[in-house]
Amino acid sequence: MSMNDYKIFKKINEKIPVLGMGTWQIGGSMSPDYSRDKEWIMALRKGIELGLTLIDTAEIYGAGHSEELVGEAIKGYPRDELFIVSKVWPTHAHREDVFKAVQGSMKRLGTYIDLYLLHWPAENVPICETMKAMEELVNKGFVRYIGLSNFDVKGIEEARSCLSKVDIAAVQNKHSLVYRKYEKDVIPYCKREGMMFMSYTPIAKGALANNDFLIEIGKKYGKTAIQVALNWLICIDPVVPIPKAGRIDHLKENAGAMGWRLNKEDWDKIDKKFKVYLDLEK
Ligand SMILES: NC(=O)c1ccc[n+]([C@@H]2O[C@H](COP(=O)([O-])OP(=O)(O)OC[C@H]3O[C@@H](n4cnc5c(N)ncnc54)[C@H](OP(=O)(O)O)[C@@H]3O)[C@@H](O)[C@H]2O)c1
Repeated sequence: MSMNDYKIFKKINEKIPVLGMGTWQIGGSMSPDYSRDKEWIMALRKGIELGLTLIDTAEIYGAGHSEELVGEAIKGYPRDELFIVSKVWPTHAHREDVFKAVQGSMKRLGTYIDLYLLHWPAENVPICETMKAMEELVNKGFVRYIGLSNFDVKGIEEARSCLSKVDIAAVQNKHSLVYRKYEKDVIPYCKREGMMFMSYTPIAKGALANNDFLIEIGKKYGKTAIQVALNWLICIDPVVPIPKAGRIDHLKENAGAMGWRLNKEDWDKIDKKFKVYLDLEK
């Protein structure tokens, strides 16, 4: 594991790899799947070795089994070289439930959490109740940073207004070349405020692999369409994409999106080509 391509954010004053590793469906979806544990642990370990040392999981993934697999996979690696992200599901947004949830996640992971996110806005719980509980988690040393997922700017501002000493360090929303609406507001907001923006579903579930335009641009760099698509996101200041790959060849390909940059002309060409997704607002 070596980190030679990283970003530093004002709100997270340490090196973060420009690309992370997603884990949705590693360990099951809404219920645990134990059938491929060995293969998944191997894939996660391979990802770490390739430099994907930011790992994104959640208590809901595989009903906790994803966190168990991450916990197993990280054994033996220096803990301070990893950045573990997990999330509390909105049905656990009441104060007492947040405490229970984080303890469950830490137990499954076998370690503390670097960044803890509220997975989605909770409909029936006042945001300040959840945020104050999350702030306490930082003060108690259970988690190092807190953040939000699937929030717009208004929601982020509301959440921040509940906090006193701790601030929101990161926002994680859907973002790819074919889903660009947050480039208009949340991403510039994160940049201004020194927060990390984590792009989820950054390769549109693999669909971008077959994009002829990206394939053509990639030829110049000796890179694939997926590597170009991820690099285009990495070139945006506060953005850290978190593609998920259970297959080793996919992991290797994704890691090849690090360590280089598209030139400005090509970045602009891609921007223009996929502009329709910026204007679509969805
Ligand atoms: N906060 C939220 O609400 C939220 C929502 C969705 C996702 N997320 C996070 O974001 C992560 C990524 O999003 P995602 O899993 O929805 O979608 P994604 O990363 O865009 O796509 C994952 C899919 O693409 C395939 N793939 C990976 N690398 C590939 C490559 N190089 N070429 C072709 N196909 C490739 C994977 O296949 P294999 O697995 O077979 O390799 C998998 O089927 C999640 O795992 C999760 O951690 C968060």
